[in-house]
Amino acid sequence: MTSQKHIAALSNPVFELIADSAAALAVDCYVIGGFVRDYLLKRGTPKDIDIVAIGSGIELAKKVASKLPGKPEVAVFKNFGTAMIKLKELEIEFVGARKESYYRDSRKPVVENGTLQEDQNRRDFTINALAISLNKKDYGTLIDPFNGLEDLENQLIRTPLAPGITYSDDPLRMMRAIRFAAQLDFTIHPESLKAITSHKKRIKIVSRERIVDELHKIMAAKKPSKGLALLHKTQLLSYILPELVALQGIEEVEGQKHKDNFWHTLEVVDNIAKTTDNLWLRWAALLHDIGKAPTKRFDKKLGWTFHAHEFVGAKMVYTIFKRLKMPLNDKMKFVQKMVLMSSRPIVLSEDYATDSAVRRLVFDAGDHVDDLMTLCEADITTKNPRKQRKYKNNFKLVRQKIIEVEERDHIRNFQPPISGEEIMATFNLKPSREIGIIKEAIKEAILEGEIPNEYEAAKKYMLKKAKESGLLPK
Ligand code: CTP
Repeated sequence: MTSQKHIAALSNPVFELIADSAAALAVDCYVIGGFVRDYLLKRGTPKDIDIVAIGSGIELAKKVASKLPGKPEVAVFKNFGTAMIKLKELEIEFVGARKESYYRDSRKPVVENGTLQEDQNRRDFTINALAISLNKKDYGTLIDPFNGLEDLENQLIRTPLAPGITYSDDPLRMMRAIRFAAQLDFTIHPESLKAITSHKKRIKIVSRERIVDELHKIMAAKKPSKGLALLHKTQLLSYILPELVALQGIEEVEGQKHKDNFWHTLEVVDNIAKTTDNLWLRWAALLHDIGKAPTKRFDKKLGWTFHAHEFVGAKMVYTIFKRLKMPLNDKMKFVQKMVLMSSRPIVLSEDYATDSAVRRLVFDAGDHVDDLMTLCEADITTKNPRKQRKYKNNFKLVRQKIIEVEERDHIRNFQPPISGEEIMATFNLKPSREIGIIKEAIKEAILEGEIPNEYEAAKKYMLKKAKESGLLPK
């Protein structure tokens, strides 16, 4: 147990105010959890402050609010004995110390009040059980009964109690352990890892929203593969994303092997994490080959094929998002589009990319063409340096061509140069199938490069085609 002072952690004037309020109520209190951890890790100023009171957290919150300028509202969650004050960028949560495990999403009401040590015992990890005193007698002292400070230094995720107890108290903590390992680049203590593996089934009782929250945090890490590999190792992944687990393994038939698409996917995710913070593009990388397990075939002539895996994969994106209660909105559609188109630029880069092929790519990908290129560049995982260079160079050329074609033809948000109304007026037509056919023919001519994407050229083309087919202007 250390008695280091950490006054600097309490530089926000709100801490003095909390200390004064607690003294007035004759209640001891401490700042605890993520705030202390992130302060000691120098991870920047945390947005949340958790205060534990040895007494009523709700009373303390009310007292603090009454002293704050503007007297902010206190949100009280009576059943759980917690209260929250929201200040611009900062959320301060107050809780009474307890003997029982406490966590925000618990459905169990609070039963018994406890001491600080009892409260620390029931927290998830030693690095999250660190507390700093806000009491007059020892203001700023670090209270660290489980050597959390040492674990921070050794970059270790360890539970205060026997891991089996901590994870049974709240199975979400299995995901949290892995998320912290990925986020902080820490190691999970071997005993903890063993306990997670043996308690994995209990993940079923955790809400999907909570699971996805943690998954997002893993995906947002610098190296998401660290978390994904741990989910795989502990077999939690089989409960969360079995489709991904199905990608693992290498099969050999007649001396021909295919690559292990699970480990390949993890590499792609790490690659893309180096070039984008866009969470959904990272998800697209995670799911880009998801259709490969159900479409895998061995053909005597062609070898291993994954015919239409992009199409099947895009459909699976919907199933996965729905099952995990992820949003079924434009984010999901974006991921689907990326998965569906994930092989398109690769085909282009293997050969000389013609202008019309590039125009078609830009037309189909629209505003997402750059994201698609980023995904495909991340997809290069060959260990052959010559091939690696070749693909990278070819993608560079495709990117360059996209810019050139775009400057000339403005395909990205394609608007037909001739409207349906004008076609109807020119040929004296009522709304009909013909209009669509004519519009399509003009679009095709532009994409093929027969005519530029301009009004005059399109009109001339339309009239010429009409004459050929006997559809003369009125
Ligand atoms: N906690 C816990 N078990 C949980 C969730 C939280 O013991 N399942 C405790 C930990 O002491 C944690 C604190 O409650 O530090 C606050 O939880 P939370 O705000 O969810 O996490 P932080 O640790 O603050 O980290 P982050 O903000 O990165 O999620």
